[in-house]
Amino acid sequence: MEVLIVGDAPAAGVLVAEIIAQHVQPGVSLGLATGSSPLPVYRELIERHARGELSFAGVRAFTLDEYVGLPRSHPESYHSVIRRELTDQVDLDRVDAPDGQATDIPAEAARFEAAIVEAGGIDVQLLGIGTDGHIGFNEPGSSLASRTRVKTLTQQTRDDNARFFDSVDDVPHHVLTQGLGTILDARHLVLIATGSSKAGAVAAAVEGPVSAFCPASVLQLHPHATVVVDEPAAAQLRLADYYRFAAENKPDWQRF
Ligand code: F6R
Repeated sequence: MEVLIVGDAPAAGVLVAEIIAQHVQPGVSLGLATGSSPLPVYRELIERHARGELSFAGVRAFTLDEYVGLPRSHPESYHSVIRRELTDQVDLDRVDAPDGQATDIPAEAARFEAAIVEAGGIDVQLLGIGTDGHIGFNEPGSSLASRTRVKTLTQQTRDDNARFFDSVDDVPHHVLTQGLGTILDARHLVLIATGSSKAGAVAAAVEGPVSAFCPASVLQLHPHATVVVDEPAAAQLRLADYYRFAAENKPDWQRF
């Protein structure tokens, strides 16, 4: 795992956008996250596209998760969010997301898994992290081998996400999410975490035991995981100085 510490959230966004841009070429599949953390990444990718430096032609995308029961037309469905925040602003029109309104949810989960396989797998998966250590919506207790399925949100996650809704009561209880096993199948995992509220979860994910108690700790099992954090989110990392030294002295031949 590579841990890259930068000054603030905008700098984290630029760095993660650079990592993703290095992957972008026809035939590639991107895994996209929603929420606040990826927004600086998407802004940077949109700006590069607007300047004519980056084209998503021939690229496919898959989202991580979706609220169960929220109509796709709802402004906070992840189907709407990913279009508004990224794909409608660039030349990326092949976006697949789990359908949280499917009448047969297990069949929809199986369809989504099969679509990822049919696309040749996900080349680079962007991840945020919840304050309780979730990635996707794999809440604490999730099987480290799980596939796309329904999960129940913790109250902590519903409280965290209440800012997107009129009231916490409007935050759905259930979600359809890629499993931790699904996420591990991606060829490169890139997690972005910014702000002091993420410091505990980041430390548990990067330096704690691999455990379903902190689902993001499963990144420790992946052969190619990059964690990009700003200074506030890095505050509880015990090996922060080592990560900084390693990044500053990275050999030229070593890629992200
Ligand atoms: C969203 C997702 C979640 C978020 C996490 C952090 O698609 O998969 O894991 O990344 O809840 O959300 P923010 O970035 O809003 O703090």
